[in-house]
Amino acid sequence: MTRIDIIAGARPNFMKIASIIRALEARGPDKRLGYRLVHTGQHYDARMSGDFFAQLGIPEPHVNLEVGSGTQASQAAAIMVGYEALLSGSRSDLCLVVGDVTSTMACAIAAQKLCVPVAHVEAGIRSGDWRMPEEINRMVTDAITDLFFTTSETANANLRRAGVQEDRIHFVGNTMIDTLLFNWDRLRAPAFWQALGLADGGYFVLTLHRPANVDMPEGLGAWLRTIGTAARGLPVVFPVHPRTAKTLRAIGALPENLRPVEPQPYFEFNYLVRHAKAVMTDSGGITEETTVMGVPCLTLRDTTERPETITMGTNELIGTDPSKLKDALDRVFDGRWKTGRVPERWDGRTGERIVSVLERVL
Ligand code: UD1
Repeated sequence: MTRIDIIAGARPNFMKIASIIRALEARGPDKRLGYRLVHTGQHYDARMSGDFFAQLGIPEPHVNLEVGSGTQASQAAAIMVGYEALLSGSRSDLCLVVGDVTSTMACAIAAQKLCVPVAHVEAGIRSGDWRMPEEINRMVTDAITDLFFTTSETANANLRRAGVQEDRIHFVGNTMIDTLLFNWDRLRAPAFWQALGLADGGYFVLTLHRPANVDMPEGLGAWLRTIGTAARGLPVVFPVHPRTAKTLRAIGALPENLRPVEPQPYFEFNYLVRHAKAVMTDSGGITEETTVMGVPCLTLRDTTERPETITMGTNELIGTDPSKLKDALDRVFDGRWKTGRVPERWDGRTGERIVSVLERVL
């Protein structure tokens, strides 16, 4: 049997691999493609990792490299050493990586240097901003990828421009949206829904974890004060990423309507998004989910690698200057936010398309 290594390391990877594993399993007992699930251990807290495996029905990883936290280089190095040792002892026929986290890049490098071909899901997207580690991860990974699975025509065009041959680009859609649609009826309100006074369309959701927004207390404090005021007293539910939590402790008083909560599991988080008046975020993946849900999304960054969430979806770039936020939120309050449409092939069947391609080419 042909065996694929499926690599997962950090939270945004888990919703992407869930749909691919489901499609592989659906092939039944005489399936031709087997897989080995490798968790690098980049994210290790239950709230950042285990809860997602449990809710999304992802099987226990066959291997956990347990690399833990570290600087960009030390984390990448630990993942490469661990995965190289694994592959050297027991080789697979393909290394499948998803997204743009450190684990994505590190495993692609280790595999390709052992002449194990690499498939990249969510290939070809670019923000053009080299200050983000994710952009470096995308570029390095795509430079050594054999099979490119893409989410959009923009990604296809970026790859063509970089000289990738047409027959290696497979425009399959969005596995993250597969997972959202598959779990739509399982989304549920978090236990704090009533205690925080939340009502349909009567609160905002905020997530922040990019180093540029959260690593300095002054910068994070300025964002939170502006958001608190512009929200006109409505609750702002703020699931706090571990990276952000460290800085938050150094900020004094928080706006009265800000509601910091623990990182939320998948069903609860997406329920919150689905029923929010709007979402404010510096994440990329969330802008795709809000596009599909039709919820207004304000991205607190200067760039995006997902332009279709703006040209087709409900997302808008606000930038990194908090003073721009009030105007945008006023438009949400006045009902002047755009309504979007769902990009092509974000239809819940991307995992199946990926497995069909793999069956054909492997
Ligand atoms: C990583 C990804 C980012 C993704 C984000 C989602 C890279 C370069 N970045 O950023 O693309 O959007 O995950 O969460 O791969 N920590 C914990 N528990 C955990 C994991 C992390 O406490 O389970 C803390 C650690 O102290 C660590 C910090 O969070 O230093 C940051 O974690 P790290 O994985 O380095 O990067 P993220 O900021 O989470």
